Amino acid sequence: MTSIVDNGAEPRNDHDQEWLGGTSLGHVIDHSQVDLSHKVILYLEGISVSFDGFKALNDLNLTIDAGELRCIIGPNGAGKTTMMDVITGKTQPDEGRCFFGQTMDLTKMREAQIAQVGIGRKFQKPTIFENLSVFENLELALKTDKRARHSLFAWLDDDSRDKISDTLRQIRLDHEAERDAGLLSHGQKQWLEIGMLLVQDPKLLLLDEPVAGMTDDETERTGELFKSLAGKHSLVVVEHDMAFIEQLGGKVTVLHEGSVLAEGSLATVQNDERVIEVYLGR
Ligand SMILES: Nc1ncnc2c1ncn2[C@@H]1O[C@H](COP(=O)(O)OP(=O)(O)OP(=O)(O)O)[C@@H](O)[C@H]1O
Ligand SMILES: [Mg+2]
Repeated sequence: MTSIVDNGAEPRNDHDQEWLGGTSLGHVIDHSQVDLSHKVILYLEGISVSFDGFKALNDLNLTIDAGELRCIIGPNGAGKTTMMDVITGKTQPDEGRCFFGQTMDLTKMREAQIAQVGIGRKFQKPTIFENLSVFENLELALKTDKRARHSLFAWLDDDSRDKISDTLRQIRLDHEAERDAGLLSHGQKQWLEIGMLLVQDPKLLLLDEPVAGMTDDETERTGELFKSLAGKHSLVVVEHDMAFIEQLGGKVTVLHEGSVLAEGSLATVQNDERVIEVYLGR
């Protein structure tokens, strides 16, 4: 079990709480302080990543507005997952800058810190606990949120219960709360995993191929969920399913060979000659 270090020090003020979990002892980051004064939640400039001389990302530039629902498309190997690896601190770029809000330089932060400041990532394979109930999975996700450390007993009961109920409704699993997560359908497991991110109140959600393997009906419900989350959260969705992207209706960025090839509405990028060439030439 992870222990929470407590040296008895009080936070100096509301804007200056110390994060004592993990190895970030003494490092000062406050989740509530993502600077969105320019309405930009994520800013990537000139990001390059090489694997043995092969450039998976090549001078990538990307700006995501606060509250935006952005879709990222592109052929296999375009660098979409690598881009998420850079944002979440899993991969260190060789060059470039990656900012969360105006002030947080993600390339200087560790993976765990990045998760703590409000960037949630959903991988393709759900990492839920199959032997626990749906409710217990959400409860666990809430309790492992290190930010909850400061609000010990007072809200841990009522508020977290409310939060779990709200989330259960959002992910349409309110009638399955007591069921073992392992008994859910593939789509429901994906929703549960999204719920486990939502209880931690992420500012930015990164979703890599979230509807892969879902039925048409589940895909459509997922689209409705994402649309309802936009505004309060910012979402970056990587997908190959064009009908789903059309349903989401947001701005689309096309990646190719590690850079942005085109950006705009789905109709705009679909009519772009270079995009057509890249997809037909697959
Ligand atoms: N750890 C790694 N070591 C070596 N090469 C890698 C590594 N990670 C990714 N690559 C390569 O970088 C390129 C981009 O991969 P990435 O997974 O980002 O593509 P993608 O756009 O997510 O593709 P897909 O649509 O198939 O998921 C690929 O050619 C891949 O083989
Ligand atoms: Mg990928």
